[in-house]
Amino acid sequence: MEEKNSTYDAIISRRSIRRFQQKPISLDMLKKLVNAGRLAPSGANIQPLEFVVVTDEELCSKVFDTLGWAGYIKPSWSPASSETPVAYIVVLVRDGVSRWFERDVGFASENIVIAAESMDIGSCVLCKIDKDRIQEVLQVPSGLKVDSVIALGYKAEKSVAEDMDDSVKYWRDEDGVLHVPKRKLEDVLHVNGF
Ligand SMILES: Cc1cc2nc3c(=O)[nH]c(=O)nc-3n(C[C@H](O)[C@H](O)[C@H](O)COP(=O)(O)O)c2cc1C
Repeated sequence: MEEKNSTYDAIISRRSIRRFQQKPISLDMLKKLVNAGRLAPSGANIQPLEFVVVTDEELCSKVFDTLGWAGYIKPSWSPASSETPVAYIVVLVRDGVSRWFERDVGFASENIVIAAESMDIGSCVLCKIDKDRIQEVLQVPSGLKVDSVIALGYKAEKSVAEDMDDSVKYWRDEDGVLHVPKRKLEDVLHVNGF
């Protein structure tokens, strides 16, 4: 297992992973990931988020059927049955209690994906999802709304960040490596004013 020397290394090396080994992640590790989400910053400390961990094979398959993958990859693509996520963390928001809930989701999700990366677990945040269907499949009570899904599993693909020229579209090369354009530091950084 590759050691991540620091939180910074985990932040820099994390990429969205959409192909997974069919090897389970222990419930203990998944609980640690939710714990990382639970302790994230929260606007006015209202903490409107809850999380459903999904590991049951049948439920995983039902959740999988609601997900939209890698919109820039053409022809349209989704993970093969031999490389689907082995677990999900579904992020729920208590309805109407916090005007900052979207920021809370962002902080909690980032905590989760960085904690996962530090354990060498691959992840992908998904918002192109059928929320109503997930709500039904997981029997989420009204009053809580499905916001997003974090797909998880040990990595079965490589993804690299590279300096962006003119397109934001990620692409796969002939070896199956995903290339993710990122705006250059000098294009987004302004020191002491613009
Ligand atoms: C709010 C949000 C929604 C996303 N929704 C999806 C999605 O529905 N399907 C998917 O395959 N990836 C999704 N992603 C992953 C992005 O495509 C990915 O973060 C982006 O291409 C940058 O790649 P990176 O995460 O490897 O840096 C989402 C990411 C974010 C932050």
